[in-house]
Amino acid sequence: MLTRSRKGWALPESAATPKSVWLSRRRLLAAGGAGAMLAAAPGAGYLLGGGGGGQPAGMAMADEAPIAPELYPAPLNEAYELDRELTDPELATTYNNFYEFGSQKNISMAAQALRLRPWTVTIDGMVEEEITLDAEELIRRMPIEERLYRLRCVEAWAMAVPWTGFALKELVDFARPLSSAQYLVMTTFEDSSQAPGQRQFWYPWPYTEGLTMAEATNELAFIATGIYGEPMPRQNGAPLRLAVPWKYGFKSVKSIVRFSFTDQRPTTFWEEIAGQEYGFWANVNPEVPHPRWSQATERMLGTDERVPTQLFNGYGEQVAHLYDGLEGERLFM
Ligand code: MTE
Repeated sequence: MLTRSRKGWALPESAATPKSVWLSRRRLLAAGGAGAMLAAAPGAGYLLGGGGGGQPAGMAMADEAPIAPELYPAPLNEAYELDRELTDPELATTYNNFYEFGSQKNISMAAQALRLRPWTVTIDGMVEEEITLDAEELIRRMPIEERLYRLRCVEAWAMAVPWTGFALKELVDFARPLSSAQYLVMTTFEDSSQAPGQRQFWYPWPYTEGLTMAEATNELAFIATGIYGEPMPRQNGAPLRLAVPWKYGFKSVKSIVRFSFTDQRPTTFWEEIAGQEYGFWANVNPEVPHPRWSQATERMLGTDERVPTQLFNGYGEQVAHLYDGLEGERLFM
C-alpha cells in the first residue's frame, strides 16, 4: 500500500502485441528451469569474470504469481531501434551475472529462491515525502512500454533484448525529489536466507548503484520489469531492474528495493570492491580498456563473432551531452 496520497496514474492501455521478430515468448516462462545452462569458467574469484560459487544447495523454487502479468506484452516504443538481432531468450535468461546467487553465470536456477511477494519499494532521501509501496502497485502506476536495447557487459560480451518497463524519469517525477538532490542511488534487496551469495561477507552488500539526476532523467534510463514480453524472471532482476544501455552492465542494478535521492555521490558496489577497475561513471568506450578486458570489441551472446564496440554503446546521440564539462572525470571505467 502506498503511504502517500496522490492522484492515481492512468493505467497504460492494454496494448496490441508488438510485431515481434523474436522467438516464442512463452519459452521464457520455463527459462528459470531451462536445461540449457551455460558452463562458466572454473576457478575461484571475487571480481567480475571470476568463477567460483556455483549452485547453492537447498534452494527452493519460488511459486508466487508473476507481478502485474496483465501488463505484458506492452506496446513497443519504436523510437529505440537495434542494429543487430535480438539475443535468443534462452541465452539471455540463463547466462547471467547476479552475485547474490553465485559468481558464475549459471545462477538462473538458484535465483528462483527469490521471493517476489511482498516486495516493498522505498523512495526516500531528499524527497518531499518518503514513499513506500509495493512493487506491483508501483509498476501498475507507471506507463509501461517495451524497448529494444543493447546490453554491454564490461567482460566484453553483449546482448540485445526487448525490455518491458518504464522510463526512470517517470519514477523520479513520482518521487518528487528536492531540487538539491544530485544523485539517485538504487539498492538491491538484502536477505542471505534467499540469496546465499550474500553470506560472502567480503562483498559490500547490498548491491548499490547510482546515477546523477541528469542521467536518471535522461530518456534512455529505464526501469525494466519484464523481458521478451513477459514479467521479469528472477535471474534477470525481478521485479525491478535498471537498464542504462550506454553504460557497462554492472551499472544495471537488479531487484531494487530502494530509490534514494542524495547530494552525495555514492560509492557503488564494484567501485568499493575494486575502485581501480570499476568507477562511478562506467560509460562504454572502445578506447579505454579495463585492466583485464580490452573493450575494443564485443562478443554477442550466442555467437563467436566479435564486433567493434561503439562509444556509449552506440547511444552517444542521446547521452554524450551529459558529460560536457566532466572531461576531468574517469568517465569510461
Ligand atoms: N545487480 C545485482 N544486484 N547483482 C549483480 O551481481 N550484476 C550486474 C548487473 N546487475 C549484478 C546486478 C552485471 S555485472 C551485469 S553484466 C548485469 O546485471 C547482467 O544482467 P543480466 O544477467 O540480466 O544479463
